[in-house]
Amino acid sequence: MRVLTVIGNRPQFIKAAAVSHRLRDRAHEVLVHTGQHYDASLSQVFFEELALPRPEHRLDLGGGSNTRQTARMLAALEPLLRAERPDAVLVYGDTNSTLAGALAGAQASIPVAHVEAGMRSFDRAMPEETNRVLTDHVSSLLFCSTQTAVRNLENESAIGEKHLVGDVMADVSLAFAPIAADRSTALADAGVTAGEYLLVTAHRAGNVDIPERLERLVGLLERLDGDVVFPLHPRTAKRLEETGLRARVETATTVTAPLGYLDFLELARNARAVLTDSGGVQKEAYLLGTPCITLRDTTEWVETVEAGWNVLVDLDADAALSALERPVPTGERPDLYGGGHAGERIRDVLDSYTAQP
Ligand code: UD1
Ligand code: UDP
Repeated sequence: MRVLTVIGNRPQFIKAAAVSHRLRDRAHEVLVHTGQHYDASLSQVFFEELALPRPEHRLDLGGGSNTRQTARMLAALEPLLRAERPDAVLVYGDTNSTLAGALAGAQASIPVAHVEAGMRSFDRAMPEETNRVLTDHVSSLLFCSTQTAVRNLENESAIGEKHLVGDVMADVSLAFAPIAADRSTALADAGVTAGEYLLVTAHRAGNVDIPERLERLVGLLERLDGDVVFPLHPRTAKRLEETGLRARVETATTVTAPLGYLDFLELARNARAVLTDSGGVQKEAYLLGTPCITLRDTTEWVETVEAGWNVLVDLDADAALSALERPVPTGERPDLYGGGHAGERIRDVLDSYTAQP
């Protein structure tokens, strides 16, 4: 079995860490880095910390609009697939790199395997929702993190084989949380005390690309009490500079560069709560037992809300403040995401997969 994996940005490097080495025990993997994320703090650090294999191909195609970026990736992937002749193309999540890999594979008549298939926010204004829906409907293998995702695919009559495998990010965060606890000095570096600070991330286009929404986000941060650590995604940094809002954020929070995985996990595990518009961070907060306040009005990770660990507040500062006052749910957290075995399940399915003629 020859699998060509297409990855390109921060969450995908983390997801691939659950699968890549396991897959290589049984199959030949060719790793392609589209270059969507190119800063060392968004790319190289994850290859080092998570010991990901070196990509066989680097496309260096970051930057530009969603359309132009996807188009450039498609143009580069076509000859690469022709040369590599894989039996399957493996893609993760919902980014431009995901859609480009999936569409290039499907157009070359190569079976596509999609990890995190069936996630839906039902908000078509999100570029990620378009990427997810299109990717699922050209995929032959649909690896689902949750039963909700399987149901979403059934409701859309997606024709690929559906496999409920659990969530690959759960594999990685469960494996690396103890290592982070051992090695990271992130709390001391940020000058914060366990249980006494908030951790914030924000990069969703719908929150940071619209100046009025960005200003609401900044206003919300200004209302938070105590220490607030805010590792800035480059998209957000750029927008804050363009709108002249950066100084207000620096007054209200401790701004840092994007953090490596171990430091981020350690800060998330010890935070009083996490405020985020990230998909991955919502899941991680749940897995680490940290309350999450989601700065969106929809989520794909609905189980975290149903379990009482996540509250959707959009950019409503009053709602965020009252969510912070909620008591933490008591009792065991249900195992929502497959218990850390998604990577091996994906490997097993891929290993025994034979495309239908
Ligand atoms: C992308 C994904 C988003 C995902 C996020 C993970 C899409 C449509 N969006 O958003 O779903 O949640 O990655 O973090 O695929 N930039 C840098 N350095 C980098 C990368 C980007 O400075 O290494 C800046 C550039 O100005 C770039 C902008 O950030 O134009 C946006 O980057 P891009 O990869 O297009 O989108 P993200 O916001 O990172
Ligand atoms: N993350 C990180 N450093 C940071 C912020 C996030 O390592 O400064 C990790 C985080 O632990 C999670 C992943 O990045 O595993 C989430 O990626 P991101 O929020 O960029 O994308 P999304 O999940 O929203 O697509």
